[in-house]
Amino acid sequence: MLLQDHHLREKITHFDHERIPERVVHARGAAAHGEFVANGAAESVTRAAFLKKGVRTRVFTRFSTVLGSRGSADTVRDTRGFATKFYTQEGVYDLVGNNIPVFFIQDAIKFPDVIHAGKPHPDREIPQAQSAHDTFWDFVSLHTEAQAHTMWNMSDRGIPGSYRMMQGFGVHTFRLENAAGETALVKFHWRPRLGTHALTWEEAQLAAGKDPDFHRRDLADAIESGAYPEWDLALQVMPDDPDQMFEGIDLLDPTKFVPEELAPLQIVGTMTLTANPTNYFAETEQVAFHPGHLVPGIDVTSDPLLQGRLFSYLDTQISRLGGPNFAQLPVNRPHAPVNDMLRDGMHQSAVHTGVAPSHPNTLDGGCPFHAGADEGAFVDLPVTVTESVIERALPRSFDDHFSQARVFYRSLTEVEQEHVRDAYAFELAKCYEQAIKERQLRALARIDADLCAFVADALGLAVPEPAEPLEDVEPSRALR
Ligand code: HEM
Repeated sequence: MLLQDHHLREKITHFDHERIPERVVHARGAAAHGEFVANGAAESVTRAAFLKKGVRTRVFTRFSTVLGSRGSADTVRDTRGFATKFYTQEGVYDLVGNNIPVFFIQDAIKFPDVIHAGKPHPDREIPQAQSAHDTFWDFVSLHTEAQAHTMWNMSDRGIPGSYRMMQGFGVHTFRLENAAGETALVKFHWRPRLGTHALTWEEAQLAAGKDPDFHRRDLADAIESGAYPEWDLALQVMPDDPDQMFEGIDLLDPTKFVPEELAPLQIVGTMTLTANPTNYFAETEQVAFHPGHLVPGIDVTSDPLLQGRLFSYLDTQISRLGGPNFAQLPVNRPHAPVNDMLRDGMHQSAVHTGVAPSHPNTLDGGCPFHAGADEGAFVDLPVTVTESVIERALPRSFDDHFSQARVFYRSLTEVEQEHVRDAYAFELAKCYEQAIKERQLRALARIDADLCAFVADALGLAVPEPAEPLEDVEPSRALR
């Protein structure tokens, strides 16, 4: 064999570089193509073209676990990602949500910390499952704003039966603008037509052992056999009041949900997933979602977690996908004319025409791809910032870390509550440090005395005295 054998060198060199970094979170996923059809009910609150009555929009949806690596099991106890790319006539709109309506933290600077705490320990690189270790419980018992999300993880929501039977939530509050320029604050929900179902813990354990691809296989098999999964997209619409509070709930606090009794869901369209990816790497792995991929009529709010996300996704994708041109990959490419004036860079595949890559210009005048804001391009809604965003982010309800965990736990049926109690007892028993277990029990004491007593007994530890009265929030700020 000689080095002059170029075919050998090219083939082996290419093989040597086949791997790209997995996502820093949500590394394990499964996805499908489909279509979204709007019913027109959103037209009163948004001018987004894809939400007008009867408009059909192609979509690509990726479901994921958060913490395990690419090869980890599907049925672990974890939050699930639910990210949808709408290829609208106004450009790409990404709804990058989870299957749990609240998040662990309120401030983006803590995101690396909560993920480091949930990922495997740095010394032994175990466990892959989210919640069975000291660093996770250390974090959530110290940063008690994470208690509500943790409660959802310990419930049946943490072990979904199928991606086809999973709800999705945009989590943050978004601002919509209608054709008349009026704005409203909304939360996005996906409702599975098959209903929301979970595995039991025993089923999840068996599936993880016998078929670690359980959810991935279920989605692909269902679509291949023509049993296309469907979700209704629904909105909770709240007034765009200057304080961005609704019924005592701070709409800029991503650790809080808005109960449906207070803001009913309004269905605005239906998504049907109809085709599996042809190539996992090209589509499911290389798809790049971003909460800042918006269309006219949908905008963000100054939720401090969402603002951090707006930085993070593009930043990580530049290294994950090898440079700044990944938006040209087929799965990421908008299905609409593009006027971004982006040029050159590694892996550039477009052959741009014209001589003037600037806007506006008089040299390439008349080019159909050079539309400006006045011709309908996205422009952020004007928002008056009257005080420091940081100060705004600290009303007292941000400090209420327990009342919604309590509301959620007490809303469950007796069987579901039993599952929650067993999950806390099982997962906390995996901790080595007694001080961490005791600190978590003190947090549970502030959520529900019976739950705390059950878990303490299962761990063989004393039931702690609640540090503060259980009803520790003013009624006006507590949820009814
Ligand atoms: C993926 C950051 C909060 C949902 C990711 C990725 C990063 C990230 C870096 C990997 C993206 C990629 O490699 O393409 C953050 C930060 C957050 C945050 C910094 C808070 C400050 C959230 C929240 C949600 C969420 C609150 C749910 C509403 C997702 C989903 C994915 C993802 C679904 C996977 C998307 C896919 O399937 O490719 N996040 N995230 N994240 N994040 Fe977040």
